[in-house]
Amino acid sequence: MKKIAEKILEEITQENFNLQHAKEEHGDYASNVAFLLAKKEKKNPSIVAKELKKKIKSDVFSKIEEKNGFLNFFLSEDAMEREFIRVLEEKEDYGKGISEKTLVVDYSSPNIAKSFGVGHLRSTIIGQAIYNIYKFQGWNALGVNHLGDWGTQYGKLLYQIKKENKDPKKLSIKELEEIYVRFHKEAEKNPKIEEEGRKWFSKLEKGDKEAREVWEICREKSMEEFNRIYDDLDVKIDYVIGESFYEDKLQGVIEEAKEKKVAKESKGALIVEFDNMPPAMILKSDGSTTYFTRDLAAAKYRLKEFSPDLLIYEIGADQTLHIKQLFLAIEKMGWARKEKFVHMPHGMFRLKEGKFSTRKGKTVHLQDVLDLAREKAKEIIKKSGSGKDISDQEKEEISKIVGVGAVKYNDLKRHHKRDVVFDWDRIITLKGDSGPYLQYTFVRCNSILQKAEKSENVRIKKLNNEERKLVKRVIQFNETVDSAAKNFSPNIIAEYAYNLSKEFNYFYDTHTILKDKKRIAITKGTSIILKQCLSLLGISVPEKM
Ligand code: ARG
Repeated sequence: MKKIAEKILEEITQENFNLQHAKEEHGDYASNVAFLLAKKEKKNPSIVAKELKKKIKSDVFSKIEEKNGFLNFFLSEDAMEREFIRVLEEKEDYGKGISEKTLVVDYSSPNIAKSFGVGHLRSTIIGQAIYNIYKFQGWNALGVNHLGDWGTQYGKLLYQIKKENKDPKKLSIKELEEIYVRFHKEAEKNPKIEEEGRKWFSKLEKGDKEAREVWEICREKSMEEFNRIYDDLDVKIDYVIGESFYEDKLQGVIEEAKEKKVAKESKGALIVEFDNMPPAMILKSDGSTTYFTRDLAAAKYRLKEFSPDLLIYEIGADQTLHIKQLFLAIEKMGWARKEKFVHMPHGMFRLKEGKFSTRKGKTVHLQDVLDLAREKAKEIIKKSGSGKDISDQEKEEISKIVGVGAVKYNDLKRHHKRDVVFDWDRIITLKGDSGPYLQYTFVRCNSILQKAEKSENVRIKKLNNEERKLVKRVIQFNETVDSAAKNFSPNIIAEYAYNLSKEFNYFYDTHTILKDKKRIAITKGTSIILKQCLSLLGISVPEKM
C-alpha cells in the first residue's frame, strides 16, 4: 500500500518520497512532501500540498487531506479488501520477493575449545533473522559461520594439554576451557611459557602431525557441541568456514598489502594505518598473523567466491573498531567499496541481579539458559489452562518451542544495538511483549479457525474500528519487512508482530468471532501473517499451548 502511494507521488512530482505511517487522526499514511517541494520552489507548503492533492487520482485512497502543509492519506475500503484477499489467497507466499542479489551474512562464529557464550547466542539469533528476512525478499542469502579455530591461543592450549599429559579425546569443552585458564594462571607466574605456546602454534602452522591431531580433536569436539546447540535453537548456517581455512591464503594477503602499500612496517610488525583510528596489525613482530589478517583473507575469499552485493557482519558492538578498520582496509586494498559491508553490532547481555546465576558463576552458559527456558516454559503451559488436554510428550515439545522462542524474541524485540537484560519474568510470560505471548496469540487464532466453518467469497467491507485496525495492520506486512531489511533491523518485525497480537487480542476480547464470516477471515489473515513474522524471526509456533 505504501509503495503504491509512493509511486503515485513519484509520478506526479518526479521525485522519491517516503510516506510515514500516521497517527490515527492523520489517516493511514502521512507525508511532508509539500514542505520539501515548497522549499525548492520557494512556495507556501500548504499551497503546494493542495495542488498535489488535486493531482492525485487513485482508488487506493478514499480521502486525502491537507493539514498545515502535510498530506494525510486514508486507505479506501476497496483497496484494503483487495490486498487482504491477497493475503488469504497467497498465504505463506504473501510478500515473498524476487531478487537477483546475493547476500553473505557472517554470524554466530563461536570459538573452539570454549563454550558457546550468550554473546554468540545473540549473534546467532540476530544473524539468522536478518538472513531469513533477505531470503524471504528473494535474495540469494548465504550464511557463514566464521568459526574461531586458529591463532596463538590454540598453541597455548596445545602446550598445556601436553604438559598436563591429558588425552584430548577424553576432554570436554569445559575441561578444555579450564586447561586454557590454567595456562594463563601459570603464565602469570612464569611468563616464559608464553614462548612455549607460540612454539606450539608455529608447529601447528607448519603442519606438525601431533599438533594437528590434537587441534583436530579439539575442533571436532567443539563442533559437536555447537551443532547440538544449533539443533536446539533450530538454526542452520549454510557454511562453516573457520579462521583456519584461510591459513594458506594469509601470506598472499600480506604480500598484496605490502605491494599495494596498504601495510607498512613498524617495529618489526606489519600494520595498516588509518586517519583518526589506531592502526591494525596484520603481521606481528614474531611472524604470526592476527584475527585481522584472517578477516581480510575471509573478505577477499567471500568477494571472489560468492560475488555478493552485500555482506553483513553480525558481531558484538565491542568489535566495532576492528570492523571499521577491516571495512576500510578492504577498500584500501581495492577489493570492494566499504558501502558493500554492513556491521550489525549487538549489545551486551546483562543479568538482572539475583534472578539468574549459572552453576559456574560469572559467565553465563548457553546450555543453562536453554534448559532453564524450557523448565520455565513448562510452568506457564501448566498455567495456560489448556494444559489439561496435552500429553506429557507434547508438553515436552511445546516447552522447547516456547522456551527457545522466548529467548529468541527477547533478543529481537529491541534494536540489536541495545543491551539485553535477562529478566526471566519478562522473557517467559504469557502477557506483554514476549515470545510466548505472540505464540499464544497464534494458537488462539488457530483454535478459533478450527472451530469455524470454512467460508468462501467473504467481503472485507464495512469494518468497525477493531476490524479495520487489524486489516490495516495485516496489509502493512510487506512494508514492514521492507523496512526491516533496509534498516537491518529485525526488531521492526518483532514490534509489528507484537502490535498485531495486541490488536488481535483486543478484537477477540470485544467481539464474537465464530458466527461472523468476515471476522473469521480477519482471524485467518492475522494467523497467516503472525506465523510468517515469527518464522522470519526464527521462532516456531506450537499447535497447542
Ligand atoms: N570468533 C569471534 C569472537 O568470538 C567472532 C567472529 C566474528 N566474525 C568475524 N568475521 N570476525 O569474537
